[in-house]
Amino acid sequence: MSARLRTHSAASRRPATLASAKVATPVLRTVGVIGAGRVGATLGAALVAAGHRVVAASGSSGASRARLALLLPTVPRRPAAEVARAATDLLLIAVPDDSLAGVVAGLAADGALRPGQVVAHTSGAHGLAVLEPASAAGARPLALHPAMTFAGTPDDLGRLPGISYGVTAPADLRPLAARLVADLGGVPEWIAEADRPLYHAALAHGANHLVTLVNEAADRLRDAGVGQPEKVLAPLLRAALENALRLGDDALTGPVSRGDAGTVRRHLARLAATAPESVESYLVLARRTADRAVAAGRLRPVDAAALLGVLDDYRSGVAA
Ligand SMILES: NC(=O)c1ccc[n+]([C@@H]2O[C@H](COP(=O)([O-])OP(=O)(O)OC[C@H]3O[C@@H](n4cnc5c(N)ncnc54)[C@H](OP(=O)(O)O)[C@@H]3O)[C@@H](O)[C@H]2O)c1
Repeated sequence: MSARLRTHSAASRRPATLASAKVATPVLRTVGVIGAGRVGATLGAALVAAGHRVVAASGSSGASRARLALLLPTVPRRPAAEVARAATDLLLIAVPDDSLAGVVAGLAADGALRPGQVVAHTSGAHGLAVLEPASAAGARPLALHPAMTFAGTPDDLGRLPGISYGVTAPADLRPLAARLVADLGGVPEWIAEADRPLYHAALAHGANHLVTLVNEAADRLRDAGVGQPEKVLAPLLRAALENALRLGDDALTGPVSRGDAGTVRRHLARLAATAPESVESYLVLARRTADRAVAAGRLRPVDAAALLGVLDDYRSGVAA
């Protein structure tokens, strides 16, 4: 365990109970943030709020400077290598996924990383492999992905309590990772290195494609003459989301769940005429919805046959 990792002073004063065993986990104190972007600036501010000392942060664009002024106003802005050298306990790297490998390799090549220092990144798609140059320098690698969407404003801080963090960590670093996540108000979800791409695909499929789906629905309502689509969609979509999270495939309603082929055919005909760009995604999602409904026992295969025929006809261009 690094000599730079200290125990909580409050913890050391408590009696030896289960609670004190928990708080006796070493805490990180001196932190640097490379990338004062949406995530870096927000997590940096949350670490400060939890009692850690953020000693430097990097970011050169106007947006990063503005976020630093807003969320980390007392933290000096420094070049990335200087941030790494100043971050004696924890270096948090929150740069775009595709820049991460180059940033880590560059810091290692500059000799900016040190043995015992925890080097963490916030990418969902990457695990520990991308931190290999840091590990080779003796640093301790940690993948710490907040399962949340960040805009880089103070509102983000209010959304941190209770969120999950997809954590990949060597076994000996797990207690410290759990402590760090707890300090951020979150809950660790341990993800195996090989499962990082699947973990991230699931979150992107759910959260990012949900945004596209909602905006597609709003656009088609506008096409149908609805002035404020969000007013129509908000209660319906909230209920659908809550039901899906609670009931899984049993939450499904609508024409696909009933095998109502005629309705689906009319949907596709009108979409093809009004918004052909929406037909492909409707077909793919209707097919996947039908398959899931059959597998879950919500739709009998015999009732699905006509519906699947309509979808196949559109796919092969027969009905288009
Ligand atoms: N945004 C989200 O909702 C979210 C949620 C969970 C996880 N993440 C993950 O968190 C990471 C950061 O995402 P973000 O949305 O915070 O990105 P962002 O807002 O675009 O910020 C990126 C930051 O990295 C800096 N940067 C870019 N390229 C760099 C390089 N080559 N060397 C050093 N610094 C560099 C930028 O500095 P400049 O100002 O100089 O450009 C900026 O401060 C990504 O891995 C992302 O997948 C994002």
